Amino acid sequence: MKAIRDDIKEVLVSEEEIDAIVTRIAGEIDRDYSGEGRKLVMVCILKGSLPFMGDLMKRVTVPVEIDCMKVSSYGKGTESSGQIHISLDLIRPDIAECDILIIEDIVDSGVTLSHLTKYLEFKGARSVKCATLLDKPSRRKVEFVPDYCGKVVPDEFVVGYGLDYNEMYRALPYVGVLKPEVYEK
Ligand code: IMP
Ligand code: MG
Repeated sequence: MKAIRDDIKEVLVSEEEIDAIVTRIAGEIDRDYSGEGRKLVMVCILKGSLPFMGDLMKRVTVPVEIDCMKVSSYGKGTESSGQIHISLDLIRPDIAECDILIIEDIVDSGVTLSHLTKYLEFKGARSVKCATLLDKPSRRKVEFVPDYCGKVVPDEFVVGYGLDYNEMYRALPYVGVLKPEVYEK
């Protein structure tokens, strides 16, 4: 039987590199959220951020609460329209005293994260920051700079470690570039 790994042309971020990124960012979070009176809530953006969230929350040592949201940007294919749709909001009803840290798989146009940051600030969060595994700054449509970034990647469509193509490849333990024939099928 064919393995999903056979569709990968090139590994862009290996398991070892992901591990080093998680350790580094967890250290940065520990440093920044260790102050008296902080209330860190890490928010996993479903579904792409599941593996990164799972690894990161195990590596931080400061007290942390977790929550989830499901957000998509309206649009056709790979182009964002500039609006977002929240299909699952936070389970925690009140975030007034909370230091929200959004955990994202990749920042592309920046539309999702810039809207989401404003939304969570509007809901009254004490602070809103973002940690992303990957960043594609060359694709920005709106200005957005993540507070914590694992790796800057070129303008290529990537899959694995949560990232999908038509809901496939999320379970790969690394991030890779798909073979062109997979799109052409
Ligand atoms: P944006 O920054 O609002 O354009 O949207 C970011 C979202 O687009 C991410 O959370 C992913 O779900 C998706 N995305 C962007 N680039 C890629 C990619 O290369 N592979 C898989 N999903 C991607
Ligand atoms: Mg996503």
